[in-house]
Amino acid sequence: EATSRRKGADILDENKQAGGADRTLTNRQGHPITDNQNIRTVGSRGPSTLENYHFIEKTSHFDRERVPERVVHARGAGAYGVFEAYGTVGGEPVSKYTRAKLFQEKGKQTPVFVRFSTVVHGGHSPETLRDPRGFAVKFYTEDGNWDLVGNNLKIFFIRDPLKFPDMVHSFRPDPVTNLNDPERMFDFLSNSPEATHMVTFLFSPWGIPANYRQMQGSGVNTYKWVNKDGTGYLVKYHWEPLKQGIKNLTQDEAEAIQAKNTSHATQDLYEAIDRGDYPEWELSVQILEDGEHPELDFDPLDPTKLWVKEKFPFLPVGKMTLNRNPDNYFAEVEQAAFGTGVLVDGLDFSDDKLLQGRTFSYSDTQRYRVGTNYLQLPVNSPKAPVATNQRDGQMEYKVDLAPGQNPHVNYEPSSLGGLTEARPSGAEHEPAYEARLVREKLDRPNDFSQAGDTYRKFEPWEQDELIQNLVDALKVCRPVVRDKMIGHFKQADADYGRRVAEALASAEAVDASHLGNESMREGQQLADRSGHRT
Ligand code: HEM
Repeated sequence: EATSRRKGADILDENKQAGGADRTLTNRQGHPITDNQNIRTVGSRGPSTLENYHFIEKTSHFDRERVPERVVHARGAGAYGVFEAYGTVGGEPVSKYTRAKLFQEKGKQTPVFVRFSTVVHGGHSPETLRDPRGFAVKFYTEDGNWDLVGNNLKIFFIRDPLKFPDMVHSFRPDPVTNLNDPERMFDFLSNSPEATHMVTFLFSPWGIPANYRQMQGSGVNTYKWVNKDGTGYLVKYHWEPLKQGIKNLTQDEAEAIQAKNTSHATQDLYEAIDRGDYPEWELSVQILEDGEHPELDFDPLDPTKLWVKEKFPFLPVGKMTLNRNPDNYFAEVEQAAFGTGVLVDGLDFSDDKLLQGRTFSYSDTQRYRVGTNYLQLPVNSPKAPVATNQRDGQMEYKVDLAPGQNPHVNYEPSSLGGLTEARPSGAEHEPAYEARLVREKLDRPNDFSQAGDTYRKFEPWEQDELIQNLVDALKVCRPVVRDKMIGHFKQADADYGRRVAEALASAEAVDASHLGNESMREGQQLADRSGHRT
């Protein structure tokens, strides 16, 4: 706040020096407004008239100021910056693994826009909540845009995209009471054993990063890199904060901040960039040969698993610096649209099912949230040339014509000067399949062992926090939910499960007036009466 006020004052001084620039108020038709204080009425006390064009335009625009917020990750902050490539990966030329142009030469710069976010709650919810943090990067490359839509944590709750809407519903407030209820969340999680590892991170201090600058990022899903011969490699992406380091909060620290400031992370990012203290992250990849890797005890396409650093080294490929705040929050940050389908030549999808589900969801929601032509907005449109045969739709304001294109030809193929297909820059990556079409889990679910490893790697104070945070949430849950969770923790690590069980036993008895339980019991009675036992 203090910074933006200072900024306003500077602008006032500059105008004075310049002898006062023309700051005449107009409407969007360019008409100067001579009276912005009084609507037109019949006499000073009389009724108003319908031809009050300025009033009606101003009010009806105001009436439409809100667009739907993001269904998840609604609360966020954004900034611009630059990505600089190292040109190598693990001491080898990067071209061995990918032909993506942005990585090839040492020192090559690509502009970026980044949006950080929390996940579960609405656009003005506190930024201190225990929640994964979104870390979405848009690279404006010479081959068009690449979006790396990641989170701060390196794994996810689930591995099948069919479960995502249910998962989010369970994390959201109760649909009857509109109150947050950990029992609903843990009801879902206790019936989704693959989430045990993510829960272990989320309820530790790693579940509340101190701010957006001092946190890591990860693509989470497995992607592919493709070289000029069409050979594909499995890759995971990771962002590591450089000079600003990593910092997490305990529950008490978070609550102390939240009591005074619900926007501390947005403020921290804005003010750091404003004072020239630009945050930096290094981008690393982990690389595996494409394939099933039967030697591993998990499937490399499973986003609930870490590729542990000790076995699969982080290989740095470049560095990102954020150095410019947006001019307008709504136009740039709110309307920004990232998606996992947005890849450039040399980058590809893997068969990670969660990734494939996500890739449908992002552009689908953006056509609804922002509008059909959302890719024409400045923050979303690439810096590379755009020439399509897509036309019309709400809010189209320019036609994607190539220089020299016959504007009458908005179709392809054509011999009359329309657009033509590009030439491939290398061999296609063409994985082969021979399998039945099925609905089945991956065959190495291994839901618990990495959760145990992670628990054992935590420092003692992190373990203490984890147990305490879990107990605070689980003590309001009914035994059926608690017992299933304890069972999962025990399978991860006997000590972990025992500590949660003992701490729960000595925590206060469940408060019988717990609203969620009351209303859920009513729901159960209704279900019983109608013969649907759940
Ligand atoms: C935002 C769906 C999993 C990271 C969103 C949005 C949707 C969505 C609909 C709102 C997009 C918008 O309105 O522009 C899904 C589905 C998932 C999934 C269906 C699983 C099946 C993940 C995972 C990650 C992630 C695993 C982390 C790697 C993000 C981020 C944003 C986001 C960072 C905010 C992007 C921004 O700042 O605009 N997701 N998501 N999501 N998601 Fe996911």
